[in-house]
Amino acid sequence: MAILPIVQLGDPVLRKKAEPLSRITAAERKLIQDMIDTMYFAEGVGLAANQVGVSQQIIIISPTYRRGAETVIINPQILKQKGRTTDREGCLSVPGFSAKVTRSDYVQLKGLTVDGEAKVWELKGFAAVIVQHEVDHLNGYLFIDRLKFLEKRRVEKWLREREQALGHS
Ligand code: NI
Repeated sequence: MAILPIVQLGDPVLRKKAEPLSRITAAERKLIQDMIDTMYFAEGVGLAANQVGVSQQIIIISPTYRRGAETVIINPQILKQKGRTTDREGCLSVPGFSAKVTRSDYVQLKGLTVDGEAKVWELKGFAAVIVQHEVDHLNGYLFIDRLKFLEKRRVEKWLREREQALGHS
């Protein structure tokens, strides 16, 4: 068991498109185990590999937040999306800020399991929201990029304050 450091907003790895995996070796399986440990340790319901500094297309989601019930998806590709839902989101890479985001309420996606088998997943509600958030990570997007109106102004203000606090003003 290893807890990995979580990369924070401002690190370029979060803005880079992650690479698809061509094979799943012991190294990737170890990384996935460490990602699972890290996600639960950090009390997150989802994690993308670039959040631990690895630019590879691996995501973990755990809508029920039950250890052992998480889903690992490698090389996820969204096939279908429908409906709309608005939920409050946060992110382990953006600590201290949360906001309402509107996303699809249903997602069908394909990818590989940990064992390298092709699979199609159909997710609804909270699970669909998390998977969209994590797939966004692999494409270099964060939930704060998806905000509108008042929430967008709130994040802009928060980002300015954060920069000042970090001494980059
Ligand atoms: Ni996130």
